[in-house]
Amino acid sequence: GGTAMAKEKHKDIVNVSHRGASGYAPEHTITSYQMGDKMHGEYIEVDLQMTKDGKLIAMHDETVDRTTDGTGLVKDYTLEQIKQLDAGSWFNEKYPQYANLDYAGLKVPTLEEVFQKFGKNAKYYIETKSPEVYPGMEKELLRLVNDYNINKNTLLVQSFSSLSLKTMNELDPSVKLVQLLSYKTNAVITDAEIAAIKQYAMGVGPNYTYLNQDYVQKVAGSGLAIHPYTVNDKETMKKLIDWGVTGMFTNFPDRLHEVMKGK
Ligand code: G3P
Ligand code: CA
Repeated sequence: GGTAMAKEKHKDIVNVSHRGASGYAPEHTITSYQMGDKMHGEYIEVDLQMTKDGKLIAMHDETVDRTTDGTGLVKDYTLEQIKQLDAGSWFNEKYPQYANLDYAGLKVPTLEEVFQKFGKNAKYYIETKSPEVYPGMEKELLRLVNDYNINKNTLLVQSFSSLSLKTMNELDPSVKLVQLLSYKTNAVITDAEIAAIKQYAMGVGPNYTYLNQDYVQKVAGSGLAIHPYTVNDKETMKKLIDWGVTGMFTNFPDRLHEVMKGK
C-alpha cells in the first residue's frame, strides 16, 4: 500500500551534511563536519577555494568576510595567513541560540586536513567553487584524493561549472560527478539537457525552490541521481522524497534522518 511505498522511498535517500551540520555549528569547520557525522549525515559536503600559494581550503565564499574575522579574497591570502583567522565567532554572533564558546577561534581547514581527520572511507561530496578563478583546482583536488587514497566509490565531485566537471572527467573518468543547477523560476529540463549531462555526470543538484514532481520524476526516471539543495524543513524533505529525489543537501542532517526513520 501507500504507506509501505513511502517507507521504501525513505530508505535510500542520500543525507548530505551541507557545509557540515551548518545549522548548528560554523560551516566548513572540522567541528561542523563531525557534528554532521554524529547526526547521521552520510556525506560531508565540502566547498573548495584556493589560497595564493595553491592550497585547497574548505570555504564557501571567494572572500573570507562572511565566515571569518578577516576581509578580502581567499586568493590573496597564503594558507599561513588564512590560518590566523577565526572561523567560528561569527556564528556565535549570528546564531546566539546555537552559540558555543568552543566555536570561537576555530580554524579554516584545508582539504588535506579534512581527509586526514575523516579518513579514506568517509563519504565526501566536494564542490569546485569558482574554478575559473583557480586554474589547476581540479588537478590539485585529484592529487589529494589519490594521495590520501580516498575511496572513489563513495566520492562525489559537484560543480555549477560543467567545464570544471568535464575537466575532472578527463583527468580521471572514475570520479563520479554531479552537475549543480540553479533555477530562478519553475524548473524545466529537456531530454537533450539530460542526455548532455549524462555524458559526464551521474546526477544533478538543483535548488529545491522551483522543483515540481514532473521534473523530479523525469530526471530520476532517466537514471540520473537528483540531490536538491538546501532543504532544512521536514515538510519539504517529505514532499521531495515523495516526488522521488534520491538524496538532498541539508544544514540539519538530524532532521532528514528523522524523516528517513518515518518521524
Ligand atoms: O552544493 C550544493 C549547494 O551547496 C550549492 O549551493 O551556494 O550552497 O554551494 P551553495
Ligand atoms: Ca556547495
